[in-house]
Amino acid sequence: MTSFLVTGGAGFIGSNFVRQVVATTDHRVTVVDALTYAGNRDSLAGLPADRVRFVRGDVADADLMDELVADAEVVVHFAAESHNDNSLRDPSPFIRTNLVGTFTLLEACRRHDVRLHHISTDEVYGDLELDDPGKFTPETAYRPSSPYSASKAGSDHLVRAWVRSFGVAATLSNCSNNYGPYQHVEKFIPRQITNILDGGRPKLYGAGANVRDWIHVEDHNAAVLAIIERGRIGETYLIGADGEKDNRTVIETILRLMGRPEDGYDRVADRSGHDLRYAIDASKLRDELGWTPRYRNFEAGLAATVDWYRNNEAWWRPQKAAVEAAYATRGQ
Ligand code: NAD
Ligand code: DAU
Repeated sequence: MTSFLVTGGAGFIGSNFVRQVVATTDHRVTVVDALTYAGNRDSLAGLPADRVRFVRGDVADADLMDELVADAEVVVHFAAESHNDNSLRDPSPFIRTNLVGTFTLLEACRRHDVRLHHISTDEVYGDLELDDPGKFTPETAYRPSSPYSASKAGSDHLVRAWVRSFGVAATLSNCSNNYGPYQHVEKFIPRQITNILDGGRPKLYGAGANVRDWIHVEDHNAAVLAIIERGRIGETYLIGADGEKDNRTVIETILRLMGRPEDGYDRVADRSGHDLRYAIDASKLRDELGWTPRYRNFEAGLAATVDWYRNNEAWWRPQKAAVEAAYATRGQ
């Protein structure tokens, strides 16, 4: 039994991670989450109180991080501002949470000699051309495009510097686009599903040729657990499941799965600086740690995700109108 401190555990990937830890291990979890617009206590509903404790708090709060890290054996750092479109509107919370928050946590881990796993994104590598046969590897140069991805890139650099200069026992992972239950309706796939459930139409940015490398959130989190258990300190592991799809294809698939005509979507204003393509080479993770994805059929995973949003309207409904109103002001 290990005691985990999970930052951002009321968010999409963090809450799925806590559920997976409870279901597949005997570890105890303390979740620390600021419950920003993206955090939701209901995402942790039903978990046993003797395994999961919730603390509302900010990762940039040095006193609180000191106290919580002192009690933990492993810190798993998911907390972040996570949405590119929001970072284009107002970068400031991204700088505070993603950079100052990660710094604050690193200092606490350094003081108490506690192991850290830092969750990051493939977006730190910028984008690939649509016709480039290559993929991101751990050796790819950092070239972030948005305030969000630049802040995550900076957080990765902080973690590596604290490993090298101060001997903090940290690992890092950079994952591609996740889908699955409990994802906020501001994000691409839940937005389209809930638009259709609401009687509206999906919204495609630009021509929709941009490619994302989709992975089910449970596969991401299984990889994170494998890295925590067997990863080498100081190493970076890229997480991806060979799930490249262009956005237009994803929208057409959602429409078909939900019994609508495949052309029943709107083209809306493109994202400024929109990254063209992400693609992950996860061979280091597979070869070193023996990880393989369980969700190999994207359409089946997507159908299960559609069902989840159909069956959990009470979870997403309170956010929907405000999210769509904000998009509408930007012509999206
Ligand atoms: P999310 O926005 O759904 O959740 C973020 C959580 O962090 C929320 O619960 C929020 O309340 C909390 N939070 C925000 N600021 C905080 C602060 N200052 N202190 C404490 N808690 C705070 O995000 P997500 O999609 O679950 O992403 C989680 C992590 O995974 C992020 O680090 C993100 O960069 C990374 N990531 C996401 C994806 C993806 O596809 N969603 C892919 C790769 C990596
Ligand atoms: O690659 C990992 C990243 O994936 C994570 O680091 C981020 O936290 C996560 O949000 C995600 O970033 P993206 O910007 O790729 O995800 P998003 O869901 O915002 O958009 C996915 C694609 O869909 C992107 O090309 C923009 C497009 N899009 C998005 C929305 C919300 C649309 O076409 N229409 C939309 O309504």
